[in-house]
Amino acid sequence: VQTATFSGILASLSVALDLASGNFEGHAVRTGIIAARLAAKLDCPRDDIARVYFAAMLKDIGCIDLRHRLNTLLKGSGVADDYIRAVSHPTALNGACVAEMLGFDDRTVQAILNQQEHWDGSGSPFGKRSENIQFLGRILAVAQFIDAGLSTTTIDHTFIRLFDMQMVWFDPMIVQEAMPLKNDKELHDILQAYRYGWIKSIPMPSQGAMVTGANIDAICEAFSMVIDAQSSFTGDHSARVTHYATWLAQYFNFDPARMKTIRRAALLHDIGKLRVPKDILEKPTKLSRDEFDIVKKHPRDSESILMQIPGFERIAQIAGAHHERLDGKGYYRGIGAEDLDLDMRVLAAADVFDALTATRPYRGRMTVTKALDIMREEAGKHLDEDCVGAFHSIFSKKEYLAA
Ligand SMILES: [Fe+2]
Repeated sequence: VQTATFSGILASLSVALDLASGNFEGHAVRTGIIAARLAAKLDCPRDDIARVYFAAMLKDIGCIDLRHRLNTLLKGSGVADDYIRAVSHPTALNGACVAEMLGFDDRTVQAILNQQEHWDGSGSPFGKRSENIQFLGRILAVAQFIDAGLSTTTIDHTFIRLFDMQMVWFDPMIVQEAMPLKNDKELHDILQAYRYGWIKSIPMPSQGAMVTGANIDAICEAFSMVIDAQSSFTGDHSARVTHYATWLAQYFNFDPARMKTIRRAALLHDIGKLRVPKDILEKPTKLSRDEFDIVKKHPRDSESILMQIPGFERIAQIAGAHHERLDGKGYYRGIGAEDLDLDMRVLAAADVFDALTATRPYRGRMTVTKALDIMREEAGKHLDEDCVGAFHSIFSKKEYLAA
């Protein structure tokens, strides 16, 4: 069994994020590879090479409007408050906040904050000029320009444009080092491979000394925030489902390792929704049959995204089964009771409980009592009887029934 690594999970999840933030799939990973290559050519120390790589993974996380969530989450932590106040350019700022939340050091955070500054002072968010722009941020700016170019036009054209933009957007010294990358066949082969999906075989830097206190759970939490930010209807759905699944796991006395797995699966179970077009997710009226067919693919996408992460195979299986039913009428596989283990049943029950009790645009909030009654009727058909029983037992103790 392989263990999930910090950089492995970040890279895999960033691929899912590329789609949600309107980039080409793999853009963040490719930008990281180019940036790391460039940093090495510029004789950057090893830690800085890793820093630009990780900064590339997170640079666009802020394309999704996380301000509200970050505000709640980071309230009171001095530095982050400054970023939140300066919301003139949410992309870089939010990316920087998330990097900070994951425990990256200030040099990495600054690389993200400076990636959209221009050499001539016309960039954002600060309008910094030339040497005042952090060096790693300048490298990142060139790297993302190269990948965006390679994704939309030819190699020749990309490097002609890059050459033209020195002194305007880019540090001329970095451009000079970047120009020979045009003929770096090994680099282009790697980038080309990434165009056809995520590949696990390329070695990635370890987070080394630039991350303190960060762990894989923090990444799962950060990405669950991104997933929740995708839809204004469902609000904090992933966070609440995680909460309920944890209750059930405690009720069933899961051991710590199993608890960790179910928690991560709950945080990320809807990550496949990053592939569902936003206008479908946000549609206030009933979905058409075709639209619903698209939505119904999201557990499959959650499974395939998570399956890419070494060590997350079990998490992927549980997440992929969250819309299955005991009677086989669920999706995406339509498998039945004999193929659904307790962990899968726990997550499915937690998901249904939240779907019933959360406020939706087409109906108000249902009381817990009503939701539990509905779930009782579904026990044995849709939902697992023990899981439904667990909800009843938990709520009889929690005295929430009047809510
Ligand atoms: Fe779902």
